[in-house]
Amino acid sequence: MMQHTAITSSPAGARFWWNGAVGYQIYIRSFADTNGDGIGDLAGIRGRLDYLAELGVDFIWITPFYPSPMADWGYDVADYCNIDPSFGTLDDFDDLVTEARQHNIRILIDLVPNHSSSEHPWFQDAVTGPDSDYRDYYIWADPSPDGGPPNNWIAHFGGPAWTLDDTSGQYYMHLFLPEQPDLNWRNPAVRNEFDRILRFWLERGVSGFRIDVATGLVKDDQLRSNPQVRPWNPSDSRFDQWLSFEHLHDEFQPESHDVFRSWRAICDEYDAFLLGETYTRDIQRLADLLPGDGMHGGFWFEPMHVGWDVAELRNALVAPSERLGERLLWATGSHDESRSPSRFGDGDLGRERTLALNVLFSCLPGVLVLYQGEELGLTDGTVAPDAVLDPVDTGRDGCRTPMPWTGGPTNGFTTGQAWLRSEPRSDGQTAQAQVGDPNSWHSRYTGLLAARRALPDLTEAPVEWSDCDSEMIISYQRGPVGVAANISAEHRCVDLPAGATVAYATPGVSGERQLQLPAHGAVIWNHSD
Ligand code: NOJ
Ligand code: CA
Repeated sequence: MMQHTAITSSPAGARFWWNGAVGYQIYIRSFADTNGDGIGDLAGIRGRLDYLAELGVDFIWITPFYPSPMADWGYDVADYCNIDPSFGTLDDFDDLVTEARQHNIRILIDLVPNHSSSEHPWFQDAVTGPDSDYRDYYIWADPSPDGGPPNNWIAHFGGPAWTLDDTSGQYYMHLFLPEQPDLNWRNPAVRNEFDRILRFWLERGVSGFRIDVATGLVKDDQLRSNPQVRPWNPSDSRFDQWLSFEHLHDEFQPESHDVFRSWRAICDEYDAFLLGETYTRDIQRLADLLPGDGMHGGFWFEPMHVGWDVAELRNALVAPSERLGERLLWATGSHDESRSPSRFGDGDLGRERTLALNVLFSCLPGVLVLYQGEELGLTDGTVAPDAVLDPVDTGRDGCRTPMPWTGGPTNGFTTGQAWLRSEPRSDGQTAQAQVGDPNSWHSRYTGLLAARRALPDLTEAPVEWSDCDSEMIISYQRGPVGVAANISAEHRCVDLPAGATVAYATPGVSGERQLQLPAHGAVIWNHSD
């Protein structure tokens, strides 16, 4: 196992432990199964801590493991303070925290506050009628005069955001599936419940939370309809439906900041990291979500959608970094997005481009997060149409297929049959084949994280971007460190400053003072002494 800085210390000069840290997202269902039921579990994560420590990650973010009917694969929580039996027990969780600590890996968990499951006891009580003590935990409204939904809000997953409750004749609101009723964040009782939930997990040793749907939570107090900007057709794709409205009243309400501020105060007591699933591709909206006294940071989604184009990439990197710096989480993918090597051109072309983008991320202010399997250069897995399990039409199954540990029919993920059936990965894509092979994607990523750790502390150093778009190179200096990536499809030269040495280079980079970067090649140099 490689040596890491002790978990209690932060890099010299760092304000928070996560400055300069690297995270790793674990989609628990698909990471490692230990009991043959085909579902990844907490014990499976525990069994792979050596692997994660050798890769060099500082923290893991685990997707929801709470008791759930799994209508949205765990993002429908029926009990915020327990573990679904398919993932293990609270004892397994405690064991994981303890052993992760021994590996100098912190654990962040996924908090799902915008909505619960319709199976949550709060909602089960709320649907008994308007007199329920829990009625006001959710958002209820009478039908509009024509008997239809109370307003024109629609769900992210398509269709109206309202479902009629036949018993009371009222509608309840849901930004996602009808099985995911939205909580009423204007109700102080809901706030108290979540303060308690945060403390429950902090006391169990978690180092922070990824806040699901951090753009949601509080809704317009008068439930006003959104302006419609084009015709809405419920048979259109969910994205097209969403874009038919200007979302003035159903998300991005400033009152949500009060919630984040109070959670920030709780997290600060525990030195815990509060980061948001801040889904927007508008940097102004992201800045509005991260005023500085609420969530410490948020994911920036533009790089998950950007094309391999120098102008698009610069747009995704330069202004956002200048604007939000340490508050950004940089990632090329997640369990909701097509894997970046598939988006950037299937096969090695996409893998090279994804590595180059990670090199560009690696020395910027903020936190770099890898999605499980990214270190193996995984493209999207292949799921036959009759095996699809995602409840929405966007095909999120391809990025959720099981982690390939070894060769064979289930790639060492399970001894049984995987919950999500997919074509086995080739031997070359497995961890078994790649770990220790100096020419593997795994070694390239391990090398990148090791090089990043060995660089001088950059926390206080500003970023200076170079203007070399005409060369199709993106490059910046940060203190004594420089980074360059060749976005073009041809070789390009990069001159290193006097005294600089190469700290990291992708395959095929050659030269000493004047470096030759192949297409999609990237380099980090250091001239600290
Ligand atoms: C974002 C999560 O990442 C996604 O998987 C989920 O479907 C929605 N939020 C709803 O919770
Ligand atoms: Ca299992």
